[in-house]
Amino acid sequence: MSWQQWVSAQLGEVRAANRWRELTLFNANLMISFASNDYLGLSKHPVVLQAAIDALHRDGAGATASRLVVGTRAVHAELEHAIAQWQHTDRALVLPSGYQANVAAMTVLGAADATIFSDELNHASIIDGCRLAKARCVVYRHSDMQHLRELLQSAPGRKLVVSDIVFSMDGDVAPLHELAQLCAEHDALLVLDEAHAVLQSPERLSCETLRIGTLSKTLGSQGGWIAGAADVIDLLINRARSFIFTTALAPASAAAALAALKIVISDEGERLRAHLRRLVAVLEPNHSSPVIPFVLGDETSALRAAAHLHDCGFQVPAIRPPSVAAGTSRLRIALSAEHQLEDVHRLRGLLMHIRQEWAA
Ligand SMILES: Cc1ncc(COP(=O)(O)O)c(C=O)c1O
Repeated sequence: MSWQQWVSAQLGEVRAANRWRELTLFNANLMISFASNDYLGLSKHPVVLQAAIDALHRDGAGATASRLVVGTRAVHAELEHAIAQWQHTDRALVLPSGYQANVAAMTVLGAADATIFSDELNHASIIDGCRLAKARCVVYRHSDMQHLRELLQSAPGRKLVVSDIVFSMDGDVAPLHELAQLCAEHDALLVLDEAHAVLQSPERLSCETLRIGTLSKTLGSQGGWIAGAADVIDLLINRARSFIFTTALAPASAAAALAALKIVISDEGERLRAHLRRLVAVLEPNHSSPVIPFVLGDETSALRAAAHLHDCGFQVPAIRPPSVAAGTSRLRIALSAEHQLEDVHRLRGLLMHIRQEWAA
């Protein structure tokens, strides 16, 4: 089979499975978007923008090489210090993306004599890190602490448990205290991905913990980070291929993230989170994150619902396999402090209409 035939057969498979995806033009002006992860609306905050502009003029458009080769800019060090303080850890390391941060942590800590225990709904970047790691990987049922306990009991050697704090497609929160207790009992390192944990304040847990996050969601910039014990950060700097063999995080992205982080921990950040909590309560009382799934089942229904909302001026992405399990295709609603209460009430009305009309 030629390459051309193989590629068109592959494309045929994607289409036949009703999983065809294509890139559409970003249009911020005509639509109200519930697609972005800019949870506090900081990507366009004037202070954040100015910090990025100043860094562009000071440090240039790109970092120009890996940090081990070209050196660390002052803004990288300042951001790492601020992240470590925010997360109550000794040190932090920033990388060009959250994806690379998860790959770095899993590949370096997941050495051949270790076992990684990973929640079945963890983000793809954790899964890919596990695939690249030499460790044995064991998947436990979603947030099922009894299952995790049984698996931990029967595993020899060093153990690492990894979980999203807020799961990216369901918006539910991992049982952090139970996870920490199990890890303490079994001498396991707990690795937590806080990418969507905008409404959870970083807290100290009762076990050894490594924290991973992204600069691209709550902080509205671009890049990723790992925060933990000083020795672990040194090991990552020396061993993590997704840190060593890539150009460093752009200084302007680091500066924007640093300015955003200062807002997050200020009174203004508290006000933004309070507004976001009010918006979440409109769609889903007692939900603890701005990610709200509206499950429709099959791919066609999810696509139809997204198209209907699009016609009404709302951008709400349809999420289909392989991002979610077959039969759980959905709309993924991401709320942001930028939204107005009226927008969310209107969306709620449209969603109720979809449920009633389509169920009939
Ligand atoms: C839970 C989680 N971890 C990691 C990432 C990757 O972060 P980044 O977009 O910075 O690569 C994402 C999303 O993109 C995510 O949802």
